[in-house]
Amino acid sequence: MINQTLKAGVIGWPISHSLSPYLHRFWLKEHSVHGEYLPVAVNAEKLEEFLKGLADNGWRGINITLPHKQAAMEFVDDLDPTARRIGAINTIIVKRDGSLKGTNTDGYGFLKNLQGFQSEWEAVDGPVVVLGAGGAARAVLMALIESGSSEIRLVNRNQTKAEDLVAEFNGPIEVYDWSDRSAILSEARLLVNTTSLGMTGQAPLKINLKKLPLRAVVNDIVYIPLETELLKNARRRGNRTVDGLGMLLHQARVGFSAWFGVDPEVSSSLRTHVLNVMKT
Ligand code: ATR
Repeated sequence: MINQTLKAGVIGWPISHSLSPYLHRFWLKEHSVHGEYLPVAVNAEKLEEFLKGLADNGWRGINITLPHKQAAMEFVDDLDPTARRIGAINTIIVKRDGSLKGTNTDGYGFLKNLQGFQSEWEAVDGPVVVLGAGGAARAVLMALIESGSSEIRLVNRNQTKAEDLVAEFNGPIEVYDWSDRSAILSEARLLVNTTSLGMTGQAPLKINLKKLPLRAVVNDIVYIPLETELLKNARRRGNRTVDGLGMLLHQARVGFSAWFGVDPEVSSSLRTHVLNVMKT
């Protein structure tokens, strides 16, 4: 039993694009852990069967990516409060008794990344503008609320979706019309893009930063390309910027530490390694 390989992985449909295997394998090697991290393509029909078999099949746990982050919640025995509030899970930990614990570490990854790049930023400093109301926005909003934001301005193309989110989350969120996204930047301390706009292959994000104070931080959670047009424009006018890759790296730490018993570091060598993989 001592030499047993510890097994974790990531499931999604499709799964071939996932960067998670590269970053977890980097940490496994760095810490000489006798473990493996496998990408597994699991479709919606097979999700329940796969999750119910995790313990019997020797998994320590898994990450969950699109499109299963919401559906997987149904098949875990224990949901932590953050995951319940966000309404999605991205990590499952198989407990000693074989039961499954579901958690969501995306909000944690978002905050750690932001604070890693801009240690002086604090949620209580002033208004935050969040673009988007999809899955990623839910985690970002929850992290902002939990860390004490007093004013969150939320804009989404589909305004009803943003209003539904406000009704569901208990927080200081005000919804604005998508066409107001440039106007509501005045006095903001942080701007976060959680939409897919600006990602390679997607439509550009059109926003005028003129009203954004120069002391505001701009964070794009899109990381392909690493420096999006939003970040480039923000940097050129003098705002501090935070790219989205670190959110992916930081969210992975929680699972790694639970499955393999080592709390790994998000180092510059890890970043370089993943960036090199992205280039290939
Ligand atoms: P994720 O889980 O990555 O957040 P998602 O749930 O599909 O993905 O959310 C994508 C976000 O990008 C949504 O806020 C979406 O806006 P809608 O809710 O109005 O669809 C936003 N988005 C995608 N394409 C867009 C576009 N062309 N214009 C404006 N917003 C867009």
